[in-house]
Amino acid sequence: MSTKPVTGIESRKTDRQDAWWIEPLFTVLSLGLFGLYAFWVALNRQHYEYGPYLSPFYSIPIPGVHAKDLDWLAISPAFLVLWIPLGFRATCYYYRKAYYRAFFWDPPACAVPELRKAYTGERAFPFVLNNLHRYFWYLSVPVVAFLWYDAIKAFFFEDGFGIGVGSLIMLGNVILLSYYTFSCHAWRHLAGGCLNCMSKHKTRYTLWQRISRINESHGFWGVVSMLSVWFTDVYIRLCSMGTITDIRLF
Ligand code: FES
Repeated sequence: MSTKPVTGIESRKTDRQDAWWIEPLFTVLSLGLFGLYAFWVALNRQHYEYGPYLSPFYSIPIPGVHAKDLDWLAISPAFLVLWIPLGFRATCYYYRKAYYRAFFWDPPACAVPELRKAYTGERAFPFVLNNLHRYFWYLSVPVVAFLWYDAIKAFFFEDGFGIGVGSLIMLGNVILLSYYTFSCHAWRHLAGGCLNCMSKHKTRYTLWQRISRINESHGFWGVVSMLSVWFTDVYIRLCSMGTITDIRLF
């Protein structure tokens, strides 16, 4: 058997015959388009609310402060909140795997060679910042709490309690975001990590078991919650622009 090392172009080839490139392509398209959309929404500064509905991009996590109160700011109020979910997702273990594969080909898929030769892992700037993930989790929990507040408010119209299609969309969105946030690996470690004997910490053990159950699908929650944030904003935007009409179900 030849022991000659594989180098150059030859090393970039893979024997895989399946469509391994679909997943990285989907990641590039979904993350790239979502990033551009989020940036555009933040710069746009209009059509982010309709009746009791508020776009998640403009949910300011400061008690009693509405995005409209901050119109005087030179930068969009959306930027006050956006850096938290974006930082949270950019440092998320699932998204790290996804964008290392899709954007940097480190490697793009199993059994497909890497593109870069000088991979430094997460020890050098900027990827060393990924170690801040647990701090972004701490910051994201209040953001989700405010989104729950917004979702409950979406059931209270000028004429009182009601249910509109938008109310249900906002509720669905915050449920998916909660699944994503509370299936986080850092949260799972916080609940059950650094324990020598689980049986002596029953509450933490139970919590850790519950988190572990939803943690198995963490990547799924990551993708669907991102799509739901996107969809919720588009829905409210189109209602606000008069392109579509929100339907009151009750
Ligand atoms: Fe994905 Fe924490 S690991 S949100």
